[in-house]
Amino acid sequence: MKKIVLFYFSGTGNTYYVAKKIMEYFRKSDICDLYSIEKHLADGSDLIESADIVGIGYPIYGSSLPKIVKDFISSLKTSNKIAFTFCTQLMFSGDGAAYGGRLLKKRGFVVKWQEHFNMPNNITDIRILTLRHKMNYQKIEKRISYKTRKFVQRILSERPYKKGSNFFSLLLGLSQRVAYEKMELNAYPNAIRIKEELCNGCTLCTLICPTNNLEMKDGIAVSKDYCTLCYRCINHCPKKAMYMILKKGVKHPYHGPFEDFKIKMVLKDDIQNQI
Ligand SMILES: Cc1cc2nc3c(=O)[nH]c(=O)nc-3n(C[C@H](O)[C@H](O)[C@H](O)COP(=O)(O)O)c2cc1C
Repeated sequence: MKKIVLFYFSGTGNTYYVAKKIMEYFRKSDICDLYSIEKHLADGSDLIESADIVGIGYPIYGSSLPKIVKDFISSLKTSNKIAFTFCTQLMFSGDGAAYGGRLLKKRGFVVKWQEHFNMPNNITDIRILTLRHKMNYQKIEKRISYKTRKFVQRILSERPYKKGSNFFSLLLGLSQRVAYEKMELNAYPNAIRIKEELCNGCTLCTLICPTNNLEMKDGIAVSKDYCTLCYRCINHCPKKAMYMILKKGVKHPYHGPFEDFKIKMVLKDDIQNQI
């Protein structure tokens, strides 16, 4: 029996959903433990020690990885464990899973499998993109179940599969990533904009932020300097008082890829009881 240790970061639920499906398929024959990166920023290497295979899943941001995931990977002790990566994305990332694979390779890991999963969009302050939000949960379930099962089968039968590793994907990824990473560096400080007239000081955003980037000042939420750009606060603010790109803000927030999804499911244990 193999032991798989699977880490994920999920801003708004998509990557959590795919990671859980992957875990379920592994668990039909092997041991697979699922860990949220935001809960385990400090002890990733300890958790990996007993693993035969290490997996990392993340949402794609501009063909790149969320800062919290990049920081997690660079915090890992070098290791020669076998690994896989997967990413969730709205449409395309080019080499999204391969980029994470290359970061892991720099830490010594031997990455043998990479996969992309298309999921609903979570950038909801650009209203034209939320046209895709007419959700058909059953369709998502069917598609993702099929693809995750195939991915796990490939891993268990040791058939290497590296989505996004060809030259064309690399070019496509690079074309987005270069611009995105430039923008991202400027965006970390004060990425989140708060409409003061709408904020009712409920503090929910300060609790759910994966990087503790939000705090209350004079009863209003304010952003500090470590935003991983995940859109969680923007989609869950009860007053729709937050935005990142367009001031018009969110009309239809994104609340996850299945009907019973609750943001609590991806939060740190101590915070789950506070909201
Ligand atoms: C800042 C940001 C940048 C994104 N960039 C891309 C992109 O380049 N390509 C794409 O297909 N999806 C992109 N997306 C969409 C997300 O990757 C997608 O909705 C993902 O499944 C969200 O996962 P999560 O719910 O686990 O956070 C972006 C989302 C955000 C918040």
